[in-house]
Amino acid sequence: MAHYLVTGGCGFIGSHLVEALVQKGERVRVFDNCSTGKAENIAHLQGRIEFVDGDLRELEAVNQAVAGVSYVFHQGARPSVARSVADPILSNNVNINGTLNVLVAARDAGVKRVIYAASSSAYGNIPTLPRSETLAPQPASPYAITKYVGECYCRVFTQVYGLETVALRYFNIFGPRQDPTSQYSAVIPKFIHAYLHGNSPAIEGDGEQSRDFTYIANAVHANLLACHAEGVAGEVFNIGCGQQTSINRLASLIGEMMEADAKPVYTSSRPGDVRHSRADIRKAQQLLGYESKVELKTGLCRTIDWFLRRFDA
Ligand SMILES: NC(=O)c1ccc[n+]([C@@H]2O[C@H](COP(=O)([O-])OP(=O)(O)OC[C@H]3O[C@@H](n4cnc5c(N)ncnc54)[C@H](O)[C@@H]3O)[C@@H](O)[C@H]2O)c1
Repeated sequence: MAHYLVTGGCGFIGSHLVEALVQKGERVRVFDNCSTGKAENIAHLQGRIEFVDGDLRELEAVNQAVAGVSYVFHQGARPSVARSVADPILSNNVNINGTLNVLVAARDAGVKRVIYAASSSAYGNIPTLPRSETLAPQPASPYAITKYVGECYCRVFTQVYGLETVALRYFNIFGPRQDPTSQYSAVIPKFIHAYLHGNSPAIEGDGEQSRDFTYIANAVHANLLACHAEGVAGEVFNIGCGQQTSINRLASLIGEMMEADAKPVYTSSRPGDVRHSRADIRKAQQLLGYESKVELKTGLCRTIDWFLRRFDA
């Protein structure tokens, strides 16, 4: 019987988490409908994990997935601000109703702890930098609302039902396996993919907007800590690097690392995007023992290597 359930385990972050748990010798079940994730992300783990094809919006399917597990890493969601602007109802149904289903199922199955993939987008355009968890969230997109409501539900399930939950507000996680080809793809895989094919990276807006880009190994590390840390039930933590990089700087950094000549092209900015973002990670450092182990340049180097191997093959 699996000990850990990873919802969204076929996705970018979920698949790395599944891999880390398997490497630790843990028994893992994955629950996913492969809508934005891909079965190939965990194909190399076939035979060592259980896979359940199911939809977060169906409580009975979630009940079955949760049965018998001790810990749930709830990564499954419909990600991206732009996707939620295009279809807010679908984002709401998957991210809010789906999260509520996971919490109800976990409560009823006696799960020890649910670790929830929250989002830095909850902060919206609050002018204060870095963002600390004490700031009142101001979600600026349907996606941000859904992720924030999910973390509110987590806290309330701890307070009302005694189900232990921990919410991790990810700040722009990047790394291998991130899909570069969708119109909703994140900026780092898009830039690497563009340079790899001799194309210009497309920058939305003036490129001076900034983000706290965080390598995937840091997010995995945070999840494993959050699973067993004492005295953190019902808490929310920022998970980032605590550094800010503009999109213009990011494009030139990746261009230099890939020895690419193509110059960026500028397009209009997208509604719902926030201007600046940087995490205050002191709470995670103090209460989880979290450190940003892999900094931006090393993470970019590993990610570029992965894309080179994949697209050369
Ligand atoms: N990548 C980031 O920078 C970032 C930042 C903040 C928060 N997050 C959150 O982290 C989590 C993982 O994001 P990701 O970047 O790996 O995205 P992803 O799209 O790669 O992973 C999401 C997974 O959820 C699955 N899923 C979607 N709808 C589902 C449904 N109805 N039923 C079952 N499974 C479903 C998808 O198929 C996919 O495998 C999400 O909850 C996302 O909101 C990500």
